[in-house]
Amino acid sequence: MNITIIGSGYVGLVTGTCLAEVGNHVLCLDVDPAKIATLQQGGIPIYEPGLEDMVRRNVAAGRLSFSTDIAAAVAFGEIQFIAVGTPPDEDGSADLQYVLAAARNIGLHMTEPKVVVDKSTVPVGTADKVKAQIAATLAERGADIAFSVVSNPEFLKEGAAIEDFMKPDRIVVGAEDERAIELMRRLYAPFQRNHDRILFMDVRSAELTKYAANAMLATRISFMNELANLAEDLGADIELVRRGIGSDPRIGYHFLYPGAGYGGSCFPKDVKALVASGREQGHAMRVLTAVEEANEAQKRRLVDKLVKRFGEDLQGRHFAIWGLAFKPNTDDMREASSRVIVAELARRGATVAAYDPVAAEEARRVMGDTPGLGFADDMMAALQGADALLIVTEWKMFRAPDFDAIKASLKQPVIIDGRNMYDPAWLRELGFDYQAIGR
Ligand code: NAD
Ligand code: UDX
Repeated sequence: MNITIIGSGYVGLVTGTCLAEVGNHVLCLDVDPAKIATLQQGGIPIYEPGLEDMVRRNVAAGRLSFSTDIAAAVAFGEIQFIAVGTPPDEDGSADLQYVLAAARNIGLHMTEPKVVVDKSTVPVGTADKVKAQIAATLAERGADIAFSVVSNPEFLKEGAAIEDFMKPDRIVVGAEDERAIELMRRLYAPFQRNHDRILFMDVRSAELTKYAANAMLATRISFMNELANLAEDLGADIELVRRGIGSDPRIGYHFLYPGAGYGGSCFPKDVKALVASGREQGHAMRVLTAVEEANEAQKRRLVDKLVKRFGEDLQGRHFAIWGLAFKPNTDDMREASSRVIVAELARRGATVAAYDPVAAEEARRVMGDTPGLGFADDMMAALQGADALLIVTEWKMFRAPDFDAIKASLKQPVIIDGRNMYDPAWLRELGFDYQAIGR
């Protein structure tokens, strides 16, 4: 099949590359000329394990290409994926301007029937808006060309995006006409494993499924964060509680890790957007409002612990931070807890030496001008003369450090661990003031 991907960011690039990998011909479009130039020169604009090799292989095989030429891109694919960003508007609702601009471009340039697939995370009713936008644009041109709009939300996780796309738990397709259903069945046939992974449903249910999944996962995390904070005061160990409840198959182990708050490009904005959708319909969405509030507080939790240890005024204090990305295996800094922590430390007059194995460059771009923030070239160098070490992202390389060397580098042996990397009893035995989350 010939497929066009409109928007070559995390989701568009992974989707396009994985669809090429199974034999399709894919053209990825973007409005960002620098991004397309990087891709055309064999570079990858994001860090995603395994993606670079897969892109190279498919480009070399002639199945994958990149362009900024809208007309050529719309002409190329019988399927047009829309995978542009849907950032939060001021009121928290999803900003659909990029999605509707993509729809308009399809309407402006299509000359034969197309199946348009919403891959972006979009509120219920967006497929209708996309349909209306394309129809209106076709009408402006006096053109009468058949098309259908399908909802096919994406569930990949950054850092494991290829694995998630190639071996999906499920593929949700909201489609209401036979031609589109048949085309989507053929498109996803190579991704079926021992049983059918495609869940066909109506478009609105598919749109809501994506928000429901992310909101449920965010809820679990906020719930565990609150429980962890309570466990600290009650003298319980949240890690044991986590195992104790996770063993119940009705609960399960996934996404029960308390920490420094959830970040990333999806959970924060999708929870906000679902709350906004509820508000528009007159529903208060009380649970999700609380999930969000709890997360905002959790992002400040490590600073709260520092303040408890060193006092409100951190003027003249110097801290080391390990991990800046919103989670390991990505350079994505969107809504990362480290941003809140660094800003709060700067506000209180502290200086910071930060280290991240992959996200440092992106961190420099998004918060490099924060007063007192410096970047270290390696994890141990970050510790020199610091009053404490804060761990914000659980990169594997932080799991088994040389604790003697840490102690020798820090001015005071204080570790505030936002990701529960180490055994508290052992760290205390080694002489650290070790503070984790919920234990
Ligand atoms: P992104 O910001 O990385 O990429 C979006 C790309 O679209 C950008 O490169 C931008 O230049 C391009 N673009 C904007 N308008 C365009 C237009 N009119 N034509 C062509 N290109 C255009 O975003 P992302 O993280 O890939 O997210 C895309 C969508 O997928 C969002 O709705 C997001 O919620 C959803 N999603 C993201 C993830 C994730 O892990 N990042 C996972 C699942 C779903
Ligand atoms: C998420 C969804 O998992 C994915 O299905 C969707 O398509 C996009 O949004 P992603 O944002 O890439 O994926 O990362 P994820 O692994 O879900 O982590 C999100 C945030 O939650 C991170 O900040 C992570 O540190 C935090 N988290 C995750 C926890 O605090 N505890 C957990 O148990 C799991």
